[in-house]
Amino acid sequence: MELTGKRIALGITGGIAAYKSPELVRLLIKEGATVQVVMTEAATRFIAPVTFQALSGKPVFSDQWDSRVANNMAHIDLSRDADVILVAPASADFLAKLAHGLADDLLSTLALARDCPLLVAPAMNRQMWENVATQRNVATLDGDGIAILGPACGDQACGEIGLGRMIEPEALVAALIAFFQPKRLSGKKVLLTAGPTFEAIDPVRGITNLSSGKMGFAVARAAQEAGAEVILISGPANQPTPLGVTRIDVVSGLEMHSAVMKHAARQDVFIGIAAVADYRPKTVAEHKIKKDGQGAPAIELVQNPDILADVAALPVPPLCVGFAAESTNLAEYAERKRKAKKVPLIVGNLIQDGFGGDNNTLTLFDDGGATPLPAGSKIELARALVAHIATLLVKVR
Ligand code: C5P
Repeated sequence: MELTGKRIALGITGGIAAYKSPELVRLLIKEGATVQVVMTEAATRFIAPVTFQALSGKPVFSDQWDSRVANNMAHIDLSRDADVILVAPASADFLAKLAHGLADDLLSTLALARDCPLLVAPAMNRQMWENVATQRNVATLDGDGIAILGPACGDQACGEIGLGRMIEPEALVAALIAFFQPKRLSGKKVLLTAGPTFEAIDPVRGITNLSSGKMGFAVARAAQEAGAEVILISGPANQPTPLGVTRIDVVSGLEMHSAVMKHAARQDVFIGIAAVADYRPKTVAEHKIKKDGQGAPAIELVQNPDILADVAALPVPPLCVGFAAESTNLAEYAERKRKAKKVPLIVGNLIQDGFGGDNNTLTLFDDGGATPLPAGSKIELARALVAHIATLLVKVR
């Protein structure tokens, strides 16, 4: 329930993507939000208001001259009662109206009369999106401080493939949750590693580990929500990329090392969450290793570079944060790692508490001593970690 108590005015304009808006309402309600739906006349041609009324538990507004509103100022009341206005889908026509400050129906009047932030999720045919007029309007809206969510790329209802699809309801909910997070890392650049690495033995085999990547992806999401520009360098992890995060996929520890070193110098924060394999096979067999009756082959291992220690050793390093996953003696090993890698903060977790799951327990080890975070979901812990990192940034910079 990440939107408890939040009041959302959800505008729906006339586009085929309106068929996804009932699902959006359902997900917002599930997260604890109050949703007031406002539809344009064209939107009601695509989907009946009664659907939204049933899902939101509130009558839908679409008529500027609605006699249910005693003072006939629905646009003012709706704006006063909202923490945020989200228009999804937002048609090309609606974006054009917004850009020019037109107010010829209830939703556009509400948008003009708002005293709360406005987010729009454009949805239209690829050519309409690419049209210079739409692009000019979008640039105007961006300059006016209106958040533009999407559009996404892919198959379109018109049979074309390209940019113009509304981003999915789940992503819109994530964007709203992000919107309400404090912007503690605004203007900061954060680089992270996540997931396992895969060290090839031959073309089909390799050495890897059971890291799911969930904790690293949660921290990337929390940093992005906090306003940072985030680059996430991930080993083979089957996790969705958090909205607004730049993801670079790598396979081996060496690849991860070179991707990190390419970006590290320009960052404010580096967080190493990947479970990098300590060792890799010295050579990778060109062909699949066969059973040849000569007994088991020996695989010679060599040590992988320590990415975190190398970033911390840069002439002007970003604020470096490491993770220590241990099965025993967490405090002792974490402190030892902090000294050995010369990093100001090590985040310790017991493998049995968090590996692969959705929840975790974390303890932060820094110059201030050990700070246990309350047990929780990985995203809750990631937000608490980001808040702690923000306080350290203020101290060191
Ligand atoms: O040395 P150890 O693997 O226990 O340390 C864990 C921390 O160091 C994590 O933050 C991990 O991402 C980072 N690490 C690294 N490169 C390695 C090994 C670990 O960046 N080769």
